[in-house]
Amino acid sequence: MSERERVLSGMRPTGALHIGHYHGALKNWVRLQDAHECFYFVADWHALTTHYESVEVLSDSVWQMLIDWLAAGIDPQRATIFLQSRVPQHAELFLLLGMVTPLAWLERVPTYKDTIEKLKDRDLSTYGFLGYPLMQAADILIYRATQVPVGEDQVPHIEMTREIARRFNRLFGAEPDFEEKAQAVLRKLGAEQADGFLQARQRYQRDGDREALAAGRRLIGQASGLASAERQRLAGYLEGTGRIILVEPAAALTETPKLPGTDGQKMSKSYGNAILMREAPKALTEKIRRMATDPARVRRSDPGDPQRCPVWQLHRVYSSEATQQWVDRGCRSAGIGCLDCKQPLIEALLAEQAVWHERAQPYLAKPQRLREIVEDGCARARRVAEETMADVRAAMGLQYA
Ligand code: TRP
Ligand code: SF4
Repeated sequence: MSERERVLSGMRPTGALHIGHYHGALKNWVRLQDAHECFYFVADWHALTTHYESVEVLSDSVWQMLIDWLAAGIDPQRATIFLQSRVPQHAELFLLLGMVTPLAWLERVPTYKDTIEKLKDRDLSTYGFLGYPLMQAADILIYRATQVPVGEDQVPHIEMTREIARRFNRLFGAEPDFEEKAQAVLRKLGAEQADGFLQARQRYQRDGDREALAAGRRLIGQASGLASAERQRLAGYLEGTGRIILVEPAAALTETPKLPGTDGQKMSKSYGNAILMREAPKALTEKIRRMATDPARVRRSDPGDPQRCPVWQLHRVYSSEATQQWVDRGCRSAGIGCLDCKQPLIEALLAEQAVWHERAQPYLAKPQRLREIVEDGCARARRVAEETMADVRAAMGLQYA
């Protein structure tokens, strides 16, 4: 990722999060907020696309999850955290994008048929479930996000979002005399800026230089006194399209370790094998002590193979090189027992969770504080979303002033 990007990501509210959520997503979110403008939201409408029959747990799940975000170190001073349903502009953009989205684009999203297959006990033959990748596209496009950190399973959704943005800009960003109009905007920049812009444009269009693209965008962002339609013209001129009203995002795929649950299967709350981010210390210790190991180690004297042991996967995330070597040797030679092996892990997890407990404490004591933070985030998100919607409405002929 280059300079300061607009980052957006969302999570469905699943209640208290587990360490797989932390190492798979949250840790990365925390890192990104140092250098980028980040928007993180609770996808509560998304939850309803599959769980419309269990709405009673929704709001509690939302607050539990938000506490874990803050516990993990998401800083509301730097990142905007908010609830999707408190920013109704998402719904408006979703509706308008629906006018120009071919049905086939939704039907061919891989998660569509897979999830219907997987959640057989639910009736997902609904309009909402078919449309949810488009809702996700609206979530992203409404903030003009340039980077969307997601897991691999979500990449097709980001791809579709890019196609939607392209289609939208082609339909609604085309203008007669585009070139002349763009050059007229260019003349509003100072000579030096205009020069820099044209050089960046040439390097991008001739060599596909991404840095040049970023530099060009930066120049547009910094130029003062331009109306938003003018910025969109310049952006389109830079990239060789018409006006760019909606920005194509990139998927920011992060290398994430797959953490096993206590039974060695994929960690998931629904399998009952999860290690939560904020376990009571005693319960945490007990969970690790009972965690599955290499089945070959029936007796203490049987040698094992860390590659066959879920505990080893945790060591790879939590332990130093030296400890990992001690585990590898001790396991293969039966020099250590499994409880010995687990002890440094227990200590590392307790230490990590102590920090999370501490950060969560003020919000558990004063839920009102959490609600205020989220209310602020929602207000900020609405402001940004409304700017995009003003442009979208105008582009689609819905401006009546
Ligand atoms: N669909 C995502 C998931 O199931 C959650 C999500 C909704 C999301 N909207 C988003 C993620 C926008 C990134 C950007 O995990
Ligand atoms: Fe797993 Fe450690 Fe036991 Fe080896 S010694 S089987 S790595 S818990």
